[in-house]
Amino acid sequence: MIRVLFVCLGNICRSPTAHGILLGRLEDEGLADKVDVDSAGTADWHIGKAPDPRSQQAALARGVDISDQQARQVTEEDFQTYDYILAMDRSNFSDLKVIHESVGGTVPKLFLRAFGRSFDEHEVPDPYYGGEAGFRHVVDLVEDACDGLIIDIRKRLG
Ligand code: 4NP
Repeated sequence: MIRVLFVCLGNICRSPTAHGILLGRLEDEGLADKVDVDSAGTADWHIGKAPDPRSQQAALARGVDISDQQARQVTEEDFQTYDYILAMDRSNFSDLKVIHESVGGTVPKLFLRAFGRSFDEHEVPDPYYGGEAGFRHVVDLVEDACDGLIIDIRKRLG
């Protein structure tokens, strides 16, 4: 089993979107039973909440239902459990690196820099205080980088 954890700030917009999009892609590729996916936030503000309705809507418009996800905060244990720990922006990445420095385990990566293919952007911008276009852009960026991630997962699976 390969384990993937997406991390953003609140775990109600970007990382739940990535979580749902990757699951959908894995199902399409027949890999769903080989990869475990989850998401978490660096902050504890929204623990237990469903994804933001605007993220739910943007994902659903691409055929992905993320309504039954529940926000949680990233833990030290995640660094021992997950094979990929993927940060949405540089701020999340820097927070994850601080945890990694004290607990070791999986080295976090900046998701788009590691696996993005078609966009010249290294961060998934926080859409929380913006409009619908920002939420659609999150889906565009995440779909593209999930394709790159699946290529890497296939290599690991051998
Ligand atoms: P996320 O977006 O990190 O993509 O889940 C945010 C959600 C909530 C807040 C900020 C960003 N907030 O300030 O509550």
